[in-house]
Amino acid sequence: MTQPSPTNLSNRLGYELEVNGVRYPITADAGRSLLSVIRNEVGLTGTKEGCDDCECGACMVLVDGRPVNSCSFLAAQCQGRSVTTVEGLAGDDRLHPLQQVLLDAGGVQCGFCTPGMLISTHALLTVNPDPNEEDVRIGLSGNLCRCTGYTNIVAAVLQATGTRESNAGAEPEA
Ligand code: FES
Ligand code: FES
Repeated sequence: MTQPSPTNLSNRLGYELEVNGVRYPITADAGRSLLSVIRNEVGLTGTKEGCDDCECGACMVLVDGRPVNSCSFLAAQCQGRSVTTVEGLAGDDRLHPLQQVLLDAGGVQCGFCTPGMLISTHALLTVNPDPNEEDVRIGLSGNLCRCTGYTNIVAAVLQATGTRESNAGAEPEA
């Protein structure tokens, strides 16, 4: 992997960032977060800034297929890696099946947490395509939602996998 190269006497770096299969030339301060570069340099605003402190999961993206809080991950560290944002989940102008089922199940209210929820769900289903309710709640435990109470989100994930459990509508723990 090539290291990011200094572009002047400041701490600005020039490097390439691959996001959703497209390579973007980036020139940015070495300390810029992946979240900041995705939103402000790449121009993809689906990834949200909530706490900016690794607490809420609104900024979740995949780096080489693994979920990370992009607010607390340096963009320069992603050179040579593959970044996937919520925009990369769907193809063409169609919703990803997870997006559709989340909408249909009433798992979206203000929608601020939704991109992070989708990324975490995608990561969960990649390693566990047949999760039970507890698996889903643990898989989404890093994603805060202030609106839904989580019930419909969990139900939607179970519905998407065809493993809806009868108690998915029980009171949430978080
Ligand atoms: S904005 Fe990154 S975890 Fe909250
Ligand atoms: S739908 Fe509003 S924060 Fe989750």
